[in-house]
Amino acid sequence: MFLIGNWKMHGSFHEVSSFIEKIEPTPLGVTPVLCFPFPYLKDFASLLHTKGYGLSAQDCSHEAIGPFTGQVSASMLKDVGCRYVIVGHPERACFETDEHVYKKAERALEAGLRPIICTTEINNIEQRAPLSHECLIAYEPAVGSDSLPSDLEQASHQLKNRVNSRPILYGGGVTAENLETIAQWFDGVLVGRASLDAAVWNKLLHKMVSRKQRA
Ligand code: PGA
Repeated sequence: MFLIGNWKMHGSFHEVSSFIEKIEPTPLGVTPVLCFPFPYLKDFASLLHTKGYGLSAQDCSHEAIGPFTGQVSASMLKDVGCRYVIVGHPERACFETDEHVYKKAERALEAGLRPIICTTEINNIEQRAPLSHECLIAYEPAVGSDSLPSDLEQASHQLKNRVNSRPILYGGGVTAENLETIAQWFDGVLVGRASLDAAVWNKLLHKMVSRKQRA
């Protein structure tokens, strides 16, 4: 089970540092990953790895190298200790097409990163996600919303039929309260707001472990 925390554009050096001090190490059967803003990736990579966590960036370029001011390549992220990268997050939808997202995922795979490929729809997943088993798919139909869609079980079946054995995560409004419901049908969660507080994060970890033990 994947527990992926996306900090988006939150935090400061001090806040990331004190958060990492307070979070619990990886329990058996759960793969926790944290996605901090670019400036904080390198400084905290080894500390996170010591705790058994994966480190992720929140985006990468769809190009491998070149004159692309302000962009960051997948191989640069690998260089500073990332093992994952989010691509195609819905909050970036106005900057990128399905084709961009697909290319970003390809660059990530070439660099040895596992792409976390977000989608708000089920039908376009083939246009966004390469076939590699290293890809994680994050279904995010209602990012920023506080309530879960009523057809989650059906959505998970439809996605599983389309993406074969790649892990499918759910994202959007995940909390310690609704995690158990979601975890019945998905291989993990992509968490925004609820990943910012260490006490809430530890609660999410515990819920995942108890779910895993009962499964
Ligand atoms: P949220 O964000 O948990 O705050 O809804 C999820 C996401 O955007 O990945």
